[in-house]
Amino acid sequence: MKFGYFDDANKEYVITSPQTPYPWINYLGAQGFYSLISNTAGGYSFYMDARLRRITRYRYNNVPADMGGRYFYINDNGHIWNPGWSPVKTALDSYECRHGLGYTIIKGSSRGIAAEVTFFVPQNFNGEVQKVTIKNTGGESKKIKLFSFIEWCLWDANDDATNFQRNFNIGEVEVEDSAIFHKTEYRERRGHYAFYSVNAKLSGFDTDRESFLGMYNGFGEARAVKNGAAGNSVADGWSPVASHYLEIELAPGASKDLVFVLGYVENSAENSTGNSIGNFIEEKFAPDLTGGENIITSGNSRKNIINKKIAYNMIAQCDTAAKADALFGELKAYWAALLGQYSVDSPDEKLNRMVNIWNQYQCMVTFNMSRSASYFESGIGRGMGFRDSNQDILGFVHQIPARARERILDLAATMMEDGGAYHQYQPLTKMGNHELGSNFNDDPLWMILAVAAYMKETGDFAILDERVPYENDQSKADTLLDHMKRAFNHVCTKKGPRGLPLIGRADWNDCLNLNCFSASPGQSFQTTTSKDGKVAESVMIAAMFAFIGPEYAAMCRIKGDNSEADRADAEIAVMRKAAMEHGFDGEWFLRAYDDFGKKLGGKECAEGRIFIEPQGFAVLAGLGKETGADIKTLDSVDKYLNTKHGLVLHNPAFTRYYIEYGEISTYPPGYKENAGVFCHNNAWIICAEAAVGRGDKAFEYYSKIAPAYREEISDLHRTEPYVYAQMIAGKDAGRHGEAKNSWLTGTAAWNFVAVSQYILGIKPQYHGLQIDPSIPKNWNGFRLTRVFRGATYNITVKNPNHVSKGVIKLLVDGSEPPGSVIPSFPGGTHEIEVTLG
Ligand code: BGC
Ligand code: NOJ
Repeated sequence: MKFGYFDDANKEYVITSPQTPYPWINYLGAQGFYSLISNTAGGYSFYMDARLRRITRYRYNNVPADMGGRYFYINDNGHIWNPGWSPVKTALDSYECRHGLGYTIIKGSSRGIAAEVTFFVPQNFNGEVQKVTIKNTGGESKKIKLFSFIEWCLWDANDDATNFQRNFNIGEVEVEDSAIFHKTEYRERRGHYAFYSVNAKLSGFDTDRESFLGMYNGFGEARAVKNGAAGNSVADGWSPVASHYLEIELAPGASKDLVFVLGYVENSAENSTGNSIGNFIEEKFAPDLTGGENIITSGNSRKNIINKKIAYNMIAQCDTAAKADALFGELKAYWAALLGQYSVDSPDEKLNRMVNIWNQYQCMVTFNMSRSASYFESGIGRGMGFRDSNQDILGFVHQIPARARERILDLAATMMEDGGAYHQYQPLTKMGNHELGSNFNDDPLWMILAVAAYMKETGDFAILDERVPYENDQSKADTLLDHMKRAFNHVCTKKGPRGLPLIGRADWNDCLNLNCFSASPGQSFQTTTSKDGKVAESVMIAAMFAFIGPEYAAMCRIKGDNSEADRADAEIAVMRKAAMEHGFDGEWFLRAYDDFGKKLGGKECAEGRIFIEPQGFAVLAGLGKETGADIKTLDSVDKYLNTKHGLVLHNPAFTRYYIEYGEISTYPPGYKENAGVFCHNNAWIICAEAAVGRGDKAFEYYSKIAPAYREEISDLHRTEPYVYAQMIAGKDAGRHGEAKNSWLTGTAAWNFVAVSQYILGIKPQYHGLQIDPSIPKNWNGFRLTRVFRGATYNITVKNPNHVSKGVIKLLVDGSEPPGSVIPSFPGGTHEIEVTLG
């Protein structure tokens, strides 16, 4: 069952029923000010850091779901409704939500009034613009009452949700003309404030939640809206909100545009995040009030008045519908240009929409958010993950390489001197997070992979010469190449009894905790003491090392250090040998050796006999290629892990708690890391199948998890059909096929790598672009445009003999290049013709 449809021409998903199986959301903003918005206008906004600079309040796990947002209420002679249906939930004559790239348009109509709201964050602007159009589509004149509404969060989202004994006393606002200002704690150490304005004269306002809603009412029963009049309330502690009240008269056929701005401003250098876009640091306070001003303040205070200059500049930038439209146009142009970097015209419509629109869009969002703020991540739990952010770069780097570069340097600066890394850092401070520390022994390898991807995309080999701190300490700075070396060494100097890498707290699978032995209920496996185990080894890290290690050797060669490159190659050879000797179990690769030296993920295990994670990297690294062990491995994956909803993480699922394996066995069978379909590592198998030339298998796995292919079963899948979810419940779960944790997942980047570099086969290399597709045999070919290092490649792939893989002819601007890698051009447009056979 579907709840909408893809509008590919407009690059939108159009939701036609407000009651989707789960709130279907979108993200606004790309540079610092961010909003989450659901199809009924729920969600919240924050600046830079979803925990420390939360601007509006949202209630996770609320009943009913999805409460808190930016709501517009219409009171049409006592008939009350919202354009987005919620929170009043009056049945609408029509409803539509268009989630586009960086914007959302919600339209609703009832009894001859049509309302349309376009929500977006303009480029380089610290605020959300809401353009509202109200139209009288009936035959009679109408006088309607419009109320806006948002609820302020008291900045630190964690504190806001817990520290009520303080919070109920500190809320403060100011109202000046048509703008409502939130200034809690501004009187003391904060230098930032938020505002909510509209470009029209108010008939009233409310800034105190209880006055607007009534003490015992929900958002759907707002007292002021019911009464048809605002209370002009001034918050004094409790819960400050912002609501504008407007009276609108409309002749038949007439319409009215309004522009609301929800903005964030930093006025004080001390408290600045150092990243305010277009905001000049100003004096914090305006002069004390003398009595003549049109300013209303909490507690009638005359002091600590906000200097509002920046807010008024921002408001002036969009104080007419035409100005808002122009900013909206800029945003659309920005996205059109970004997506133009890679676009395909294949015989498969769903693949086209994933590749050309939604997968790339999700890659940008995951790059911006890491795993911090979604409808499953509360924004207070996690900083930027080291492993996560490095992988996000793989799917994002072709879009804005300069931002990828900056991120790489930030991440590298959180590395430790031994080549390990802080597992997370806070985006506001960019400092490693001590709560979580280090000791995830796969981390260093992802850093090497991200740097390689950046270098291959850009040809900017000089990044290796950048001097980057260790542990954020400038006095410990060394070159990025040195960071690569220590990352590489971290893996090959920390080996266990069989010469395989020690796992540490965990590898990619955060829940495979072979050194924790946690027996206390509720203890976090991510932070509890993990012993410095010298036995538990990860075959996955060994396979990753075999696949990623050669990138380090290549970097050394690029920098002319051949002897270091040879040393690296020798280390890789040793690891490959150990991986085959102790990691291969006859038909697939083992997962690990536990703290007792026992095999995990092998034939002798009753539960957890085969795991997905090591198999893809092993095959990609060519482990077992000479003997056919690679194909055997992929066949085993198909045989034991394949389901109609994708490949499960392992099989059989764990049915009880294993203290020696940790969190993985805490999940009920079929969920999350305990044999769920983890979409992230399905991509590694897609890459591996494509690499060995089995394009049909690669495509089968791709289409099982790519959301556009699951649109028809939205009632089962439940999360958005336009973005990947982290997990689809596996075959052992009660709800096989149901997805959770949509949006923020490494799945986005890895599946973009899988489809763009392995299936469609357009692979950036250090010295040019390689084209080596691995497609379904029934395709006749495809066309693709790829911008690479400033030149445009128009690629035509022909498949006359209906094969999956194998380039038999390559023409670049009409002539054959010397090798299989097309050298990069200084610019211009180039015609590439590829024939498979
Ligand atoms: C989740 C993992 C996650 C980890 C760290 C676990 O509970 O299952 O997917 O990586 O927490 O946040
Ligand atoms: C989600 C985490 O963000 C990621 O770092 C981890 O690799 C996977 N879960 C698997 O545990």
